[in-house]
Order: sequence, then structure tokens, then C-alpha cells
Amino acid sequence: MSASMGLLKRTEYCGLLGPQHVGEPVVLMGWVHRRRDHGGLIFIDLRDREGVAQTVFNPEFHPEAHEVAHRMRAEFVVAIRGRVQARPPGTVNTALPSGAIEVVVEEAQILNEAKPPVFPIEEQTDVAEETRLTYRYLDLRRPSMLRNLRLRHKVSQAIRGYLDRHGFVEVETPMLTRSTPEGARDYLVPSRLNPGEFYALPQSPQLFKQLLMVAGMDRYYQIVRCFRDEDLRADRQPEFTQIDMELSFVDREDVLEVTEGLVAALFEAAGKPSLPRPFPRLTYAEAIDRFGLDAPDTRFGMELADLTEMLRGVEAKAFAEPIAQGGAVKGMNVKGCGSFSRTQIDGLVECAKGFGAKGLAWFKVSADGIQSPLAKFLGPTILKRLAERLNGEAGDLLLLIADQPMTAAGALGRLRVKLGRELKLIDESALAVTWVIDFPLLEYNPEQGRWQAMHHPFTSPLDEDLPLLGDDPGKVRAKAYDLVVNGQELGGGSIRIHRRDVQSQMFAALGIGEDEARAKFGFLLEALEYGAPPHGGIAFGLDRIIALLAGATSIRDVIAFPKTQKAQDLMTKAPSSVDSRQLRDLKIKLDLDVKGSP
Ligand code: AMO
Repeated sequence: MSASMGLLKRTEYCGLLGPQHVGEPVVLMGWVHRRRDHGGLIFIDLRDREGVAQTVFNPEFHPEAHEVAHRMRAEFVVAIRGRVQARPPGTVNTALPSGAIEVVVEEAQILNEAKPPVFPIEEQTDVAEETRLTYRYLDLRRPSMLRNLRLRHKVSQAIRGYLDRHGFVEVETPMLTRSTPEGARDYLVPSRLNPGEFYALPQSPQLFKQLLMVAGMDRYYQIVRCFRDEDLRADRQPEFTQIDMELSFVDREDVLEVTEGLVAALFEAAGKPSLPRPFPRLTYAEAIDRFGLDAPDTRFGMELADLTEMLRGVEAKAFAEPIAQGGAVKGMNVKGCGSFSRTQIDGLVECAKGFGAKGLAWFKVSADGIQSPLAKFLGPTILKRLAERLNGEAGDLLLLIADQPMTAAGALGRLRVKLGRELKLIDESALAVTWVIDFPLLEYNPEQGRWQAMHHPFTSPLDEDLPLLGDDPGKVRAKAYDLVVNGQELGGGSIRIHRRDVQSQMFAALGIGEDEARAKFGFLLEALEYGAPPHGGIAFGLDRIIALLAGATSIRDVIAFPKTQKAQDLMTKAPSSVDSRQLRDLKIKLDLDVKGSP
């Protein structure tokens, strides 16, 4: 390495150079993005986090620098000293911010050589994600990835600024703790000092933030890592980040108002058009009724209709039987798709089955009437009413699912989203923000034969529904709310139960005995007896918000070092086996037969 290296001091970022620098001496440092050897002149595009600048090496004027440029290869780390000049007419690159200038190099140093990169550092790479994740530091060199991480930084700054201005105090809560009530599987950490005992990594700081309210902190927030051992998808990671908040002496309206301000502030920080406020609201019942899902995509129509009463008692068993068993029939009109082929329709039927329905009924509306395998079992009058109810006109395709109410709604709702995407009914540039409120407090778990909390057991029932908690728990609505954007849940929270007697009623409804409650959440229950203020809060998925703002299809693209679908870090090779001494210290013996069967 050249002895003069220490003499050079960077003066500018490559990507920030522009016509305003013409005539100035500069020192740039970065990576060799591209090298073009024109026999005489050598052009090196030098890249740093801000972008690329063209540098020119001329053997006539600066032979030593030219000699160094000869040795430069892709991704070498180099420093150059030179002077900015306007590019000759006709060679201006309007695609680059620095495209009107170039740097004539007078001195060059190679700071570090590099192996040829495993894949080209270019925006349009067609590289397997496995390779990208194994060499994540190379993948992150790509401008779009750096841009995503910087957007994340900017949004985090905006969050901190907004919450600070609104009186929230950032408090850190433990990572080594015990099980929290979100209901996913825990990541466990063995305790060496307490053999046989384990910490759980927090699924969220839920209990701690409530305790901070009992402590009198009044307004808390944290941008915090949470851990959940669940099946992964494009929008789920085993460790992810929440914007977690809790407020005292508030009701639901207060939480929604301050939260809308926060969401608006961070959309603004990301340069998005301002969101109209207050945000629209749907009750849970309405969301299920119209869209089939509690996180509805409201960017397009094709809403569901309830056909249960119309089809009650009809001859067609596909409808009559589920209705007789307490089920429902939901339908929707896929406009203009009456020309779908048999194969296309079979595909939709398979899809509906994949979404949990037993089947899918279809009706093609044409000028000559309605065609369907079920037509003869329904008769002309019902068919006509069906088409009327779904606004069916010639050329339309009507789809119906009869099943248990939530299954029928859910399967048709998911089919709606799939068709909405495939038929390009969704304006991808739109941002449809909706609160979903009045969730049920409890949901029935048929496998376990008991009620369980839909959010968590500290969620407060609506005051007017509290009397139903004993006799008709399924009817009780909660002071819970989710923020849904473009069909994705970005955040959720609730007003909490702050009175010990109501909490006992809730545990009773959940079939959790006093002893079990004490064992699991004793510290919180005890705290509720020492003067807990009314309180409530919410948590947002930061990764999901950034992915939405960045237009990324997976949250992996906005997390610096994410994990694969199998929860592995391909770069560090975590998780990994550990040496037997570590296990001995922890008094843990592996049963490898069990290890092989997750
Ligand atoms: P909840 O479980 O709804 O609420 O989580 C809040 C938000 O966190 C995001 N999220 C995830 N993001 C990425 N990967 C995951 N595996 C993942 N799981 C959840 C979602 C979700 O809306 N303590 C309560 C909040 C409260 O009641 O205040 C909680 O954690 O965007």
C-alpha cells in the first residue's frame, strides 16, 4: 500500500458531485463500479453510498495515476485526487446526478484489492436470494438496498421526533424475560446460573409497557426488536421491529388521534402525499361482511354480498346443507370474466379449496341466461334474484362459497384479493389506510374447545358489552383496533383492562384459573392492585411500514441482515450447533432424534 495513503483526505462523496464543483480539486474514495479502458484513456466509475462519479485517467498528463488505473478491477477500493471538469458536449449522462461532470485524476491509490464479486453490483440483478443473503454485504452495496436502509433511518428519525414532541419517553425493556401473551411460540434462552430454567425473548414489550404506565411514565415508546418463532412469510420475520407505544389516561379516540399524526408524519418523511385525516374506519363486522377479511384491501371494489337468506332451503345441497348447519353463503361478482375457460374456473375452485373452503360455485351471466352446473337446482327465479343481488350483467362471472360463516367469508375474501391482483384491479400507487375497530374480544378455538383472546388477555371489552362476558362471550367486542394499509395489518393495539376485577372476569371467560393467571402474569396482576391508571396503546410493524414506503415486496429487503423462510442467517450460518462444553455449562443434553423433527 502506498506510503502516501495517509495524505489523502476525502473531500466529497462521489454521488454528490455536480456542475457546481467544476474547476475544484477533489479527493474521492470508493469502489470501482465499472472500468473502461479505451487504449489511451481509462474511465473508472467510482461508487460510494451516494452514487457514482466518472473519473478519467490520461496517460499523457498523469502517467503514474494511469498506471494505477491499469491495475484497478471491479470492486477494488480506491482513492483518487483530481479536478472536476464539465464533460465534453455529447458525453453528458442525464441518467446520473453527476452525469454532467467528470474528474480528471492526478493521483490514484488502491486502498484494497477485491476478489471478483460473486454477482455484479448492479440494480437489475437476477441473483438467487440465497446468494444475496450469503453475501449480504455485497447485496447491500446495490443502490436500492442502501436506499431502503436510509429510508428506514429517516423514518425512524421522524418517529422519534414526532413522539418526542408529543411527550413520549423512550424506555428500553428487557430482552431476557419471560413469556409474553402474544400467542406465538417463544424463542428460549437457557440460563446457566439457573440450570433447567429459560428466559423467553419478548414477543413484544406488552407487559413492561403496561407496568411503565402503573409506574407513572404516562407516555412510553420504543423502537424495539421482538421475537416470534412462527411460520415465516414475506411479511414475517422471526425477529422484527415494532414501534411500540403506550399512553395513560386515554380512551380509544386519543390513541387513534395521536397515532394518525404519527403515521402521517412518517409518510411525509418518506415523501409520500399527505394522508387525508381522520382515517376511515370499518368495524370488524363490516370488514368481514364486505371484504371477508379483517385486514381488507380497500383499494378496489368487488365487495362480497351475503346470500344466506336468499338461498336458505333451496334444492341445491351445496347451499342448503351448510346453511342448515349454521353456515353462510357469500358471493361476489367478477366483472367481465364470464368468458373464463373451464380450466381457469377449475383453477379458482382449487384456490378456494386451498383457502379452506369445501368448494366454489360459479355462475356465468350471458344474454341467454345464467350457466352453471347448479342452475337446474336453483330455478330461474332464484337465479334471477342472485344475479340482481350481485349486479350480474351479461359477461360477468359470479362466485359463491357456502361454508361456516368465517370460512366462507375468509376464502372468498382471499379469492377476491388474488383476483384483484391478477385482473389488475388494484391501483398499485394508491395507499388505502383504514382502521378496523370493534374486534371481538374472544374467539373460539374448536380444537381446544375453549375461548381465547383475539389480541391478548389484557384487552378491555367495550363497556356496554361487559355484561355479556359471562353468558355470551362470543358477542363481546373489544376496545381493540388495527391499522390496515392496502390489505396488510401494519399495527394493532387496544385499551387495556386496568381494574383487577374486570381482569378476573376476563380470565374466567378464557378458562384461566386464578392460579394459572398468577403463575403466568402474577407481576402484572399484582401491579393492577397498586393503582393502575386507565391506559392503552398500539404497536406498529416498522419493517412492514418501511417495505410499504419503499415499494418492496418483502420485508427482507428493508432489513439489513434478515433471515430466510427457515429462520436461518445464511451469512453467519446461524443457528449453528454449539460445542459440548457450552451445553455442559448449561446442563443441557441434546436428544438428536428429537432435533431432527421440528
Ligand atoms: P401485534 O402482535 O399485533 O401486537 O404486533 C404489532 C405489529 O407488529 C407487526 N408484526 C410483525 N412484523 C414482522 N414479522 C412478524 N413476525 C410480525 N408479527 C407482528 C405487525 C403487527 O401489526 N403488544 C401488541 C401491541 C399492543 O397491543 O399494543 C402486539 O405486539 O405489523
